[in-house]
Amino acid sequence: MTPPDYEYLRKLLKDRSGLDLSADKQYLIESRLLPLSRKSGMASISELVQKMKGGSADITTQVVEAMTTNETFFFRDKVPFDHFRDSIMPEILQARASRKTLRIWCAAGSTGQEPYSLAMCLKEMGAALAGWRVEILATDLSQEVLEKSKAGIYSQFEVQRGLPTQMLVKNRVPGRSSRRRTRSEGSTIFPSSGSSM
Ligand SMILES: C[S@@+](CC[C@H](N)C(=O)[O-])C[C@H]1O[C@@H](n2cnc3c(N)ncnc32)[C@H](O)[C@@H]1O
Repeated sequence: MTPPDYEYLRKLLKDRSGLDLSADKQYLIESRLLPLSRKSGMASISELVQKMKGGSADITTQVVEAMTTNETFFFRDKVPFDHFRDSIMPEILQARASRKTLRIWCAAGSTGQEPYSLAMCLKEMGAALAGWRVEILATDLSQEVLEKSKAGIYSQFEVQRGLPTQMLVKNRVPGRSSRRRTRSEGSTIFPSSGSSM
């Protein structure tokens, strides 16, 4: 990859996703984009850049998506979810008592563990949310992670990273031991397993 290729990619990624790479991150670009260039039948990242400059929207999307970091897991970092349950929700329940509506936006929801964790927190609140209309909207820059989020199917490894066994037992779809099914519309995800919300 030549210095002008790197500058082109840096600017493109800043504009498209907000990713701000410092001048010494060539290795990161190479580790993420060399597999993509090979998969697309190109010999180098320079060739990939030429295709992008030639107006290939598809390659550009794939490049931006390949540079995202999709790390996530259920109840990630625990504290934000404790805060959500113990401080934020009590305030919301009071403030919205007459409207009984709640919309939550996971603006970078990755493969869905974050919106599903929120849905499980809310489901645990049971009667306190009876009669409420609750909606969780999960969006992400990457179409690939959104597809996984919509499917709501997680491997044992992914489940074991953060999801307490009790929560798994309560929320997975009966008869499909390794999957938790969701009803999805576009990028809006609703908890489906018998919730009163
Ligand atoms: C590290 S993951 C975090 C997922 C989740 N919020 C969590 O904390 O577990 C970051 C996610 O942000 C997404 N992302 C990066 N830039 C974005 C942008 N400009 N707009 C929307 N999503 C973006 C990535 O695709 C990735 O899935």
